[in-house]
Amino acid sequence: MDTSRLVDLPRLDLRGFTSPVQLLPRLSEELGIEVWAKRDDLGSVGLAGNKVRKLEMELAHAKALGATHIVTEGSRLSNATRAAAAAAAAIGMKCTLVLCHDEPREPVGNLLLDALFGADLRLVGDVSWVELAHVTDGAVTELEAAGERVYRLPIGCATGRGATSFARAYIEADEQIRAQGSRFQTIVHASSAGSTHAGLALGRAVSHADTRIIGVIVAGEVYDDVPAGYLRLANEAAALIAPHIAVTASDLELTEAYLGEGYGKPADGVDEAIDLMARLEGIVVDPVYTAKAAAALIDMARKNAIDGPILFWHTGGYHAIFDPTYTQQIWSNLPRLRDIRL
Ligand SMILES: Cc1ncc(COP(=O)(O)O)c(C=O)c1O
Repeated sequence: MDTSRLVDLPRLDLRGFTSPVQLLPRLSEELGIEVWAKRDDLGSVGLAGNKVRKLEMELAHAKALGATHIVTEGSRLSNATRAAAAAAAAIGMKCTLVLCHDEPREPVGNLLLDALFGADLRLVGDVSWVELAHVTDGAVTELEAAGERVYRLPIGCATGRGATSFARAYIEADEQIRAQGSRFQTIVHASSAGSTHAGLALGRAVSHADTRIIGVIVAGEVYDDVPAGYLRLANEAAALIAPHIAVTASDLELTEAYLGEGYGKPADGVDEAIDLMARLEGIVVDPVYTAKAAAALIDMARKNAIDGPILFWHTGGYHAIFDPTYTQQIWSNLPRLRDIRL
């Protein structure tokens, strides 16, 4: 794939390596279809994940503008806030995080990491995503009035600039799998604020490919109009790196069928996805994000509803399984674990 027609934007290197694309042979055998994984859960700053790619673009821009303080928001379970805190630490910027959701009122999971990476935390209780954005805007105004040079990152690091990283990531993964003698027909990934999906859709458009890309929604109501929000991100990204491309609504494929009871809440297939990925491949997926995407992949593969080879884009966040709520849930829901005497 010739990327020379893409505009090169400034990027900070927060990863230091190219995440591998690996065949998952035992899962492939189990499902009767070739399954590969793009391991964005590995390596890079602050326990990795898809947000780091976007932060590489966003923080390069923030620095160029002379900002010294990152402000963003998310839930206490957010990987984006954790990655922002880690990246800010690594490049010597200040970071303020505005965090919602009441439970658990304990320093667990990403909340512990947010604090550990030195972010200033503002916990605002159980408010909607829209309210959270308002509170965060207020924090920006207050910090600027106090003389801080602030760069505001929207929830999930969802910007067109961030999404450009996933257009390039699509091309990267495509080249990696071709070098191993295969080609993916379908990509499945967890989706919430949308810049991963938007970027991948742009990468496919730039590549003139017909890969099916399925965004498995893990958080409802992130935007008033979710597809419109995603489309805006895709076209903002296109305007930055590939102005000759227009992404249209038909380029996006999102499913809410695996959201279950909601963000961070149980859904059918999640336990089995955690079980199969761990037992067959030694890969950890978490109940908030990637297990819902893996559950979708498994279900659709069994129903012959997707073509292979399939690329499971592992977007990170596996450490959520050490959050006591989820540890307990996994332990008691998987029969092979719950019978172990401790
Ligand atoms: C592990 C993980 N997967 C997927 C997503 C969704 O990414 P996006 O915000 O680009 O839709 C997130 C972020 O919310 C995440 O933390």
